[in-house]
Amino acid sequence: MKKRAWWQESVIYQIYPRSFMDSNNDGNGDIQGIISKLDYLADLGVNGIWLSPIYVSPMKDNGYDVADYFDINPMFGTMADFDELLAEAKKRNIKILMDLVCNHTSTEHIWFKEAIKDKNSKYHDFYIFKDKPDDKKSSFGGSAWCYVPSLNEYYYHYFDESQADLNWANPELRKEVASICKFWLDKGCGGFRLDAIELISKDLENNVFANGPHVHEYLHELNQNAFSLYDEALTVGEGWPTIDICLDYTRPEREELSLIFEFQTATLDWNPKGFGKYQPVEVNHTSLKDIVTNWQTGLKDKSWNVVFLENHDLGRSVTRYGNDGEYKVESAKMLATLMMSLNGTIFLYQGQELGMINPYFKDLDLYDDVDSKTMYKDVVQTMKAMSHDEFMHGLLMNSRDNARTPMHWDNSVNSGFNKGNKTWLAMNSHAKDINVENQINDEDSVLSYYKKLIGLRKSNLKDVFIDGYFERLTNYETTDDLFVYKKTYNGEVITMIINLGQNEIDYDLSLVKDKEVIISNYKDIDKKLRAYEAIIVRG
Ligand code: GLC
Repeated sequence: MKKRAWWQESVIYQIYPRSFMDSNNDGNGDIQGIISKLDYLADLGVNGIWLSPIYVSPMKDNGYDVADYFDINPMFGTMADFDELLAEAKKRNIKILMDLVCNHTSTEHIWFKEAIKDKNSKYHDFYIFKDKPDDKKSSFGGSAWCYVPSLNEYYYHYFDESQADLNWANPELRKEVASICKFWLDKGCGGFRLDAIELISKDLENNVFANGPHVHEYLHELNQNAFSLYDEALTVGEGWPTIDICLDYTRPEREELSLIFEFQTATLDWNPKGFGKYQPVEVNHTSLKDIVTNWQTGLKDKSWNVVFLENHDLGRSVTRYGNDGEYKVESAKMLATLMMSLNGTIFLYQGQELGMINPYFKDLDLYDDVDSKTMYKDVVQTMKAMSHDEFMHGLLMNSRDNARTPMHWDNSVNSGFNKGNKTWLAMNSHAKDINVENQINDEDSVLSYYKKLIGLRKSNLKDVFIDGYFERLTNYETTDDLFVYKKTYNGEVITMIINLGQNEIDYDLSLVKDKEVIISNYKDIDKKLRAYEAIIVRG
């Protein structure tokens, strides 16, 4: 058998630092807070942490607007704190992945400040300037061009106007990015999540924003000048690829990235027309099954899958893909079973292991997210393309803040996130019900269920769980809600029988008869599949 890299056998846990654990009670999570929870993460079974950005930043987009790649934002602590985090994580066999945000910098970055001082500065060419704007839109709403009076020019920003896009055509800029990577890898980081990486090569004249003409050349170069110099550094790119595009980035012989996220599965409630996530549609289970099957089979033996349902940019999966009322526990466990039974590297987002649900903030003022706010201004106030109420419904489901409320640790004030000081984003009102303290010693909790599933991916069944031959058994799928698939590895077989919805389903009992149940979210097996029932059997 081919030896796998550490990250192929890992569950990686994403931390959104501002919302994880606030050790100094200033309302913002911090590095010491993370250190205090490392035992919790080790016990959960994770081997890697993806840290959303902790660099110096004005925090217009919560750190995805970097002002200094080589230092820590004082809000989160110091470099000494970070070194302590690395050392403490290492003791627990956990690697730290940094978030490499290098499609753009904050306009407070020294490069940008120099760039707008003087057209002849070498830093001017680090960014994308133009004499006259065209009608390109920022993905956060409004124009993508922002005027700089001192230059009488406009700079391009795909995201917020405080996030100026870098010009990767400039070789010196690319060298700088390689040095940033080496700095963090030299410290002992396990690799990077690469933010918006598909955007780095663009052809704006021809309206090509993603997967542009030189993206593979730039990433191969970065791989050769940085990633490949370190043993098994994990690089996972944020992109929105098709299977073919994903393979172009991740086939090992191309020496670019290890992995790339696929967003088709996790954005099935985004309206493909209109205003996408702000006009949510119902999740179509036939599409869900098809997409999962295509990715599971499409990368097999060519590259490696990434499996995730949540991150800091998405609403909570139980609210969007399950039922966050009567069946919040069952549906959280169903989604866990689906995710953890698939091939690939698992990415788990903080709070997902508890089955956290959306906070349902009804007041616009409770939202902080730059995307939610700018889009509201653009779509509701300027364009008048959606009503206030319609947009608010979109926010309830899909504002990025739904995933960003502080983590729920216990039953004390602010759920133990801090000692009672006002939190930077309001607490989720379900914190009393869904928290670590309530779940950690309860064998039937969502948390315990996740732990068991993670354990299975490390057990003697690990090969079939993480890299089995995937086969969908459509013959058994009597309704859209029923998903049946099996996986095989060297004679070991497991079969997954999953009810994606809340209606009871008649199913073929031969699927479970005389089979060992490896895990299931109901106490017994019945003649019908109950709401969100999920079963994994051996054979
Ligand atoms: C990515 C991040 C998101 C951020 C954007 C700009 O999509 O995940 O949070 O706002 O890039 O950096």
